[in-house]
Amino acid sequence: MKYFIGNWKMFGVPKSINILKKINDFYKKDVNRNKYKVIITPPYTLIENYSKYFKNKKIFVGSQNCYQKDQFSSNTAAVSSYMLKKVGAKFTLIGHSDNRSEGDTDKMLKDKVKFALKNNLKVVFCIGENHKEKKNGSTLNVLKKQLINVLNKKLDSKDIVIAYEPIWSIGTGKIPTSQELKKTIVHIKKELHKIFKKNVPAVLYGGSVDGNSVKSFKDLKEIDGFLIGGASKSSKKFIDIIKNYYR
Ligand code: PGA
Repeated sequence: MKYFIGNWKMFGVPKSINILKKINDFYKKDVNRNKYKVIITPPYTLIENYSKYFKNKKIFVGSQNCYQKDQFSSNTAAVSSYMLKKVGAKFTLIGHSDNRSEGDTDKMLKDKVKFALKNNLKVVFCIGENHKEKKNGSTLNVLKKQLINVLNKKLDSKDIVIAYEPIWSIGTGKIPTSQELKKTIVHIKKELHKIFKKNVPAVLYGGSVDGNSVKSFKDLKEIDGFLIGGASKSSKKFIDIIKNYYR
């Protein structure tokens, strides 16, 4: 099963649901629909509304983040996994580079993962190296640390998906070569295998994925899907990614 996950970031108002309705219409008729899952992570403000609409449909709604405490607390503007689950979220991203750069530490990410799984959200855990780390050759080491500092064998790996997003690729139009990417994904899977032994989580790629760049990834069997930012805000661009991937 492949994943196409759209991360809307700070985008969307209630009527933006029309974008998702078009994606859902495409999905219903797509001959390849049994091969993949579509998940969208709108901002917090839209999760309840969109989850209700798509409850018995094929698009899954998730959150872009969650707070590192369970249930309720006195932290202004914080939203917990418990609260997200209660309004219909099925997934949550954790550790997106936007949030790491705003201060999310490994300790916080560990708690976020713990409480998300406890509250029955599936976790899309994001990792990735920055430009400097890539240049000095420490990519594989950085990724390994990001994995082992947060994940451990006690977690239920069937509820975890990894999204590899090189920071230098997010929103820049730059993508890794398929050789580079293959090597990195194989490395991530090897590390995951060491942590979990069996049931190794799916590994997605994210960073400037669009209808064009996806063509260079389709022969990489190691990639289990994509985390899509900019191109997920347009139904046409998002559908083009799926179409071109299976063409
Ligand atoms: P992008 O963003 O597709 O716009 O590069 C990806 C992401 O940040 O998840």
